[in-house]
Amino acid sequence: MKKVLLVAAAAISMGSFSVQASGEAMYNNLGCSGCHGAGGNSMVPSYPSLAGKDAGWIFDQIKAFQDGSRVDPTMNAMAPMAAGHEQAIADFLSGK
Ligand code: HEC
Repeated sequence: MKKVLLVAAAAISMGSFSVQASGEAMYNNLGCSGCHGAGGNSMVPSYPSLAGKDAGWIFDQIKAFQDGSRVDPTMNAMAPMAAGHEQAIADFLSGK
């Protein structure tokens, strides 16, 4: 019984780790970090910092850039690349 619980706990912690890693990986691999900085801490005033922002709000901004309801030429080009990973990226950034 104890062994079963340990295996279950390991599976759960591995599961949450992989979700966070994929949000971080997508954020870095898509080049978001090039403007918004490592972990969402931007060093450049014209690129807003995203670290610690509300996950729901970040998710909504990415969606708004995708559907054009929020207009910015750079982000309207970048946001579609995050398709399917909006939540993972938002969760990663809000946890920073
Ligand atoms: C070439 C630079 C650049 C890249 C790459 C980039 N962004 Fe942005 N991002 C911007 C700029 C500039 C703004 C501010 C747009 C505005 O003023 O409306 C912005 C705004 C945002 C916002 C809203 C922040 C706020 O304070 O309103 C989010 C969320 C965001 N970007 C997410 C992302 C994600 C996710 C990626 C990767 C898929 C990404 N960005 C890639 C330049 C960039």
